[in-house]
Amino acid sequence: MDFSKLKVVKVEKRDGVTTVALNRPEKRNAMSPQLHYEMVDVLKELGEDEETRVLVLTGAGDSWCAGQDIKLFFRDLDDKPKERHRARLANHEWRWTLLSAFPKPTIAMVNGYCFGGAFVQLFACDFAIAADEAQFGLSEVNWGILPGGLVGKVIVDGLSYRDAVWYAMTGEPFDGKKAAEIKLVNKSVPRDQLEDATMELARSLCKKNPQTLRTIKESLRLVRGMSVDQAADYLLAKEREMRFMDTESGRAEAMKQFLDDKSYRPGMGEYRRDDS
Ligand code: COA
Repeated sequence: MDFSKLKVVKVEKRDGVTTVALNRPEKRNAMSPQLHYEMVDVLKELGEDEETRVLVLTGAGDSWCAGQDIKLFFRDLDDKPKERHRARLANHEWRWTLLSAFPKPTIAMVNGYCFGGAFVQLFACDFAIAADEAQFGLSEVNWGILPGGLVGKVIVDGLSYRDAVWYAMTGEPFDGKKAAEIKLVNKSVPRDQLEDATMELARSLCKKNPQTLRTIKESLRLVRGMSVDQAADYLLAKEREMRFMDTESGRAEAMKQFLDDKSYRPGMGEYRRDDS
């Protein structure tokens, strides 16, 4: 795929880390139908791309994403049911189907505004790091609508119920520090440190066994909806699948290093013989 032909998405690859930026900074990266279509193509391509070990999702300029484009996604499509249906499918496909099941680790690097519909892709990412200065908000209530299009679901699943209801019903904006406090993101850092903090995490993930990461991610997402018995059975089956899929024999090698060579402690790193 020729990424240079994209109009509203930017893709940059560096040392195993691929950064995908929603690229409509003049509209605060609000999501238009075209953006949805391009993102479907981009995520399908990168899922199987050998140069991509970790995906970072961010926004061009000083915004992460200001939600759906109120004009292009809503008002302009109100009288065009076919187009609206097509745009809705693409919107759901990239933000949930493709992104939450992306076969590699994903990091939301929240550099600025994050409103409404943007919460879906925020929760679909495995990790999230925000700038302290980023502004978040479930502003739907101020538009006279509900947090639909999956937003209402991801916030009750991902936040405490109290916080989800508070922010959905008040529409109160909050910053990156608050987002970290309520665990909407893993952490927040000053804006000028955001890229370094994100790349540090991305590089550490690049060093891990990709098949193991993929299976951990799939498993943790899926067991959330299972009973204890179902989860136990599913995790056992996954463990067996991993041994079959892992061409690097990571499990056997780790056991050898720990038990025979005494060269590596999975919990702590390399042995230092003077450890007391
Ligand atoms: N849909 C369509 N256009 C949007 C948009 C959205 N969700 N968010 C921003 N824009 C457009 C503005 O209309 C404006 O366009 P213009 O230059 O043609 O007038 C441009 O982006 C810049 O927006 P502006 O409001 O001037 O920038 P700001 O930096 O002062 O404020 C926001 C940024 C994001 C706080 C503000 O634009 C906003 O509240 N947007 C709506 C966010 C929202 O509620 N999203 C959820 C929808 S359910």
